Order: sequence, then structure tokens, then C-alpha cells
Amino acid sequence: MSKALTPIQTVQKLDKFVIGQGDAKKLVAIALRNRWRRLNVDPQNQNEIMPNNILMIGPTGVGKTEIARRLAKLVSAPFIKVEATKFTEVGYVGKDVESIIRDLIENALHIVRKKHIKHIQKKAQKEAYKKIVKILIPKVDPAKDKELFDEYYNKVSSNEIDDQIIEITLPKKQSQLEILAPPGMEEMTTQLQGLLQGLGNPKKKKQKITIEEAKNTLIEISIDELIDEDKIKQDAIQLTENEGIVFLDEIDKLARSHQHHGEVSREGVQRDLLPLVEGTVVQTKYGNIETDHILFIASGAFMETSPNQLISELQGRFPIRVKLNPLTEKDLADILTKTEFSLIKQYQALLQADNITLTMNKEVINLMAHIAYQLNEENQNLGARRLNQVIERVLEEILFEAPYKSSKKVGISAKQVRECFEKELNQKDLSQWII
Ligand SMILES: Nc1ncnc2c1ncn2[C@@H]1O[C@H](COP(=O)(O)OP(=O)(O)OP(=O)(O)O)[C@@H](O)[C@H]1O
Ligand SMILES: [Mg+2]
Repeated sequence: MSKALTPIQTVQKLDKFVIGQGDAKKLVAIALRNRWRRLNVDPQNQNEIMPNNILMIGPTGVGKTEIARRLAKLVSAPFIKVEATKFTEVGYVGKDVESIIRDLIENALHIVRKKHIKHIQKKAQKEAYKKIVKILIPKVDPAKDKELFDEYYNKVSSNEIDDQIIEITLPKKQSQLEILAPPGMEEMTTQLQGLLQGLGNPKKKKQKITIEEAKNTLIEISIDELIDEDKIKQDAIQLTENEGIVFLDEIDKLARSHQHHGEVSREGVQRDLLPLVEGTVVQTKYGNIETDHILFIASGAFMETSPNQLISELQGRFPIRVKLNPLTEKDLADILTKTEFSLIKQYQALLQADNITLTMNKEVINLMAHIAYQLNEENQNLGARRLNQVIERVLEEILFEAPYKSSKKVGISAKQVRECFEKELNQKDLSQWII
């Protein structure tokens, strides 16, 4: 198992990215730890313990997805976010829910492969350098003349002779044939692909390239040779089964609504989700995946429906419910400044690329938070997403005019900010912000 964070540590880490929403953070942190705890229970009882699937309820843009996304990132767990409305009942044209697991394993493979490559990178590099030395001094036997061989090896590894041209023989890249199989038939695709690949003879090609280029190419080839695809598959399956996190967004849209009569019933999708959440085996082209211990986090605004309108079996599989709070003006100000790589920091970095140092004092930041809050109140409430709109408007001129002839310091004043929103907002309310 990857890093075993304690719940308190998890919350502390989440605090760096998500402002407020303490209850939700706490519960996801517990669910995460419980999975680690489970893996440390004696195997006999391990399978009895089910994950604490969570239902997050809260308005748009308040951090539901962000919490789940960050959580998965913290522990490098395979993670996938899917919209519940994308699925159709089994038997109908469209995505079936099992594709969630097939996508999750792809994500796990990516994580595992990256880790494996990191692990063999040094060895692959050595192999590649040795191959280059052999091209440079083909007649020297490294066993007999180790000194000379090492001398050349050092030349190659120190990048001294990177510009030198050598001739190497490379296998011609075969184009990977993409075969689209209907869901559940992936196994066949793999077999077919193997068959087709066996037919074509890999052609070799002589090429003159610099040592620097040869290094990159040969390292890649060595990685391909050293990498153990079977082990990667096995590890990815295990990682998916034990640490996978599925984020089911817009689950509220599956609930029965009294307001939309005649709408297609989404109940079938709910029923299809049941076994997945409860624990079933899904066939993928990498092997079978048991979903018993995958953590499901469902989320929805539930403005027009209530979680109680989901079919009761599905409700039962999301035993932990947590409400996320609407964002306050202070939250919005904190989101602007206190999070890691916050919006302000992002724009500062963007403008720095054009040699512009952007500064905004506390008052200006509070004013922007205030405006975002007002706009949310008076129009559709977009949560933190409203901040993007506010900042973008405030910085529009600079973003358009830049770069200037020379580097420049730009400070934004409260007056400028206020003027940007003259039309929309009650000026009396904003007048206190002018100095
Ligand atoms: N509490 C918060 N702290 C920090 N950033 C936040 C917070 N809430 C939202 N954001 C930011 O706002 C954006 C939207 O948030 P997020 O995707 O989590 O919304 P959501 O709650 O999932 O909404 P929806 O119901 O529309 O999916 C993200 O860029 C996120 O970083
Ligand atoms: Mg979301």
C-alpha cells in the first residue's frame, strides 16, 4: 500500500487545497484510513470489511470534486470521475457502468507503469550507454579491456560527446493497430492485436543521429526490454482493487424528480450501479477486477431532488452522507489567496512569463471576494467558479496589452476593480471600498 496517511494528516494536506468543508474532509480521510486499516486486518476478516462509501451533498462549485481529486492525488490512488448521467441501462445504446472500472484500471496502469519506469530508469540508462560504447568501439571486448570500455562509457555518460554523430540500427516503429471492441470483448481485441503483430516482421533501419538523440532512443528501447508488462498488469489490478477511488458526479440527476414528469427513468442506471458498488467482478482486457473494496464517492447538488429519492438499495450503499456548505465571502477570499497555487498565484505566474509583476493588496482581494459573493447571490450561484470570472474581468486589459516594452510592476487598485463591475452591482454597496 502506498503512503499510509493518518486521517489527521490527510485533512492537513487537504487543507492546503480546499478551504472549509471540514466535515467532508474529515469523513473522506477516515474512509481512506479505514481502507489501509482493512489491509492490515488478518486476511480472514479482511473481506468482511466494506469501504465507507460517501455521498457528498452540496451546491455547485464548493469543492466536492476538488476534495475527491486531491484525496486520490495525495495517495497516488487510481481515480476516475464520471458523470452518472452519462450512463444508460444495460441493453441500451450508450456507456454501461462497467466501463467505469475499465477506465479506472487504465488510470492504475498509468500510475504503476510510471513507478516501474522510475525504478528501472537507471538500469535502462546504463544499458543504453553501453550500447553506444559498443558502437563507438565495436572491436573492444568489455570483459578484456575494461579500462578502455569504461573510459568511453564515462565520455558518453558525462555528455561530453553528445554532439558526435553515430550510426545505429533501430527497429522500425510498428504502428499500433487500434481495434475497437464492444464492451466486455476486450479480451478478444488483445488476442487479435497479438496475432496481427506476429504477422508483420519488425524491420530494422540504419540511422545517423547524434549521441544525444541515440541516448534518448536507446533508453526508451531498453525500458521496453526491461519492463515487465505482466507484473505491471498484476500490480495495476491489485492497486485498482485495493486503492481505487471512483467519483460518481451528478448522482442527484438519477434520483426520481417530481418536477419532471415523462422524463426517462434513470432507475435502471441506479440498479446497474448496485452490484458495482456492492462488489462484483468486472472483466477487463487486463484481467478480472473485483470491485468490493473500491471506494465510491458520490456527489450531487440535490437541489430539486433529495437523496431519499434514490432507490433505497443504492442509498444503503452510501452509508455516509455529508453536506458541503455554501461558500462565505471569507471562504472566497481564502480561496483566492490561501490555497496552494491559488488563482491569484496562477495569474501572477502567467503574467510573470511576460515580465510583469502583479500585486494585489488585501483590500483588493477582499473586494473581489465580495463582488464574487454578491454576483453569486444576485445571479446563479456558481460557488468558487465565480472567482475565475471576476479575476479574468479585472485583469482583462493587462492580459490583453501584455507584454510591455520593458518589465513592469502592475498593482491593481480597489477603484479599478470597482469600475469593472459598475454595471452589475449596487454601487452603494461597493462605495465603502473606494479609498
Ligand atoms: N472550498 C474550496 N476551496 C478551494 N477551492 C475550491 C473550493 N470550492 C471550489 N473550489 C474551486 O472551484 C472549482 C470548482 O470546484 P469543484 O469542482 O470542487 O466543484 P463541485 O463542488 O464539484 O461542483 P459541481 O457540483 O458543479 O461539480 C475548482 O477549481 C476548485 O478548485
Ligand atoms: Mg463536481
